[in-house]
Amino acid sequence: MWGGRFSDKPAELMQAINVSIGFDRRLAAQDLEGSRAHAAMLQKTGVITSEDAAAILKGLAAIGAEIEAGTFPFREEFEDIHMNVEARLRELIGSAAGRLHTARSRNDQVALDFRMWVREACDRAQAQVRALQKALVTKAEPHAATLMPGFTHLQPAQPVTFGHHLMAYVEMFGRDSSRFADARARMNESPLGAAALAGSPFPIDRDMTAKALGFDRPAANSLDAVADRDFALEALAAATITAIHLSRLAEEIVLWMTPQFGFITLTDAFTTGSSIMPQKKNPDAAELVRAKAGRMLGSFTQLAVVMKGLPLTYSKDMQEDKVPAFEAFDALELSLRAMAGMVADMQPTVENMAKAAGAGFSTATDLADWLVRELALPFRDAHHITGAAVKRCEELGCDLPSLPLADLQALEPRVTDGVYKVLTPKASVASRTSYGGTAPDQVRAQIKRWKEILA
Ligand code: ARG
Repeated sequence: MWGGRFSDKPAELMQAINVSIGFDRRLAAQDLEGSRAHAAMLQKTGVITSEDAAAILKGLAAIGAEIEAGTFPFREEFEDIHMNVEARLRELIGSAAGRLHTARSRNDQVALDFRMWVREACDRAQAQVRALQKALVTKAEPHAATLMPGFTHLQPAQPVTFGHHLMAYVEMFGRDSSRFADARARMNESPLGAAALAGSPFPIDRDMTAKALGFDRPAANSLDAVADRDFALEALAAATITAIHLSRLAEEIVLWMTPQFGFITLTDAFTTGSSIMPQKKNPDAAELVRAKAGRMLGSFTQLAVVMKGLPLTYSKDMQEDKVPAFEAFDALELSLRAMAGMVADMQPTVENMAKAAGAGFSTATDLADWLVRELALPFRDAHHITGAAVKRCEELGCDLPSLPLADLQALEPRVTDGVYKVLTPKASVASRTSYGGTAPDQVRAQIKRWKEILA
């Protein structure tokens, strides 16, 4: 490609460190799409003739067919996808191929291809996040009133419902989805026409190519257009946060599956056995989703470190931008799909959850609230009395609903047996009617809202 200036071939090691076709071949479709738009624009603006444009478009179509058929020769000596396509175009159509690169550089070309790839990855991720949200809503709906313990510090805190718990993740994934949408909107400016870095002396029409390629507008500064990769960083940040949410749900599935919790079962479809312990049924998919979050964060960190401190504009460092994005989005898409599969597959063991919902004095707050409401005690005093009641339960080896009235009255003489009706997990949950609370009607209202959003 640069034989005019060079007389010797690169050293083998030079080629080895320089070559990127092994991974940027994944940009082939975007590269062809960008070239088609560029060629059409060059023709429309009179930079190249209609005959040359027609030959180029025909050649690009043939290359597209070869790639589709798996017969395209990806060659290391042509370094990257851009030069592989151009070299093949020359073989197919001859010298007209040399006109395609008019008013374009690999710098704006790769910025364009990569931006389009990341844009599509964001769209795919968003669709898969929505699919996962639908699976969660579908699972939550029949369990809007199914009792389970709510935890803080992984200690029993207050009873909640299984539906409420699942819907918490629907909210998280909703924000994740909107982060992909935001990133997409910000990245949707076309770098094409920035050329090497300074723009082009040819009468190019950047609005035309931007529109043809689905961008809102051309990027307004040619240096920025070729030099920045914040669109990829932002997408990786969104992917990382999504993966963190996924890892928390995965961790809960792992916990819930243990015989100690016994909250859910997964079928054989989403579990594995052990080669030595015949009784085992392991939640490997959940564990792998939990682990893969490391790839997203690692990829974000990798790209951030590549970009940090780079002077404007393009440096070859930036060739290392693609692998982290490919790896992160591959892992993310697989994780999202596996999680949606597990959510659909999991069945709660309702009796175990209900039993656990009442364990650990989980309705102690309800007792304190009763003392405030019925006896007009300051909450701090009610908290103290309730703490003493729990202590008394521990001495007697009972739970709060079975603590004798006399023991409660020893702590506060005005307590009546009306208190017992707030001490069951069911009553506790039913009382939490504040907006966004765990009362089944509130949970149902949120399920309804999300069903409409996701429809
Ligand atoms: N393969 C290169 C990359 O991915 C394409 C851009 C090369 N530009 C350059 N000035 N050497 O970044």
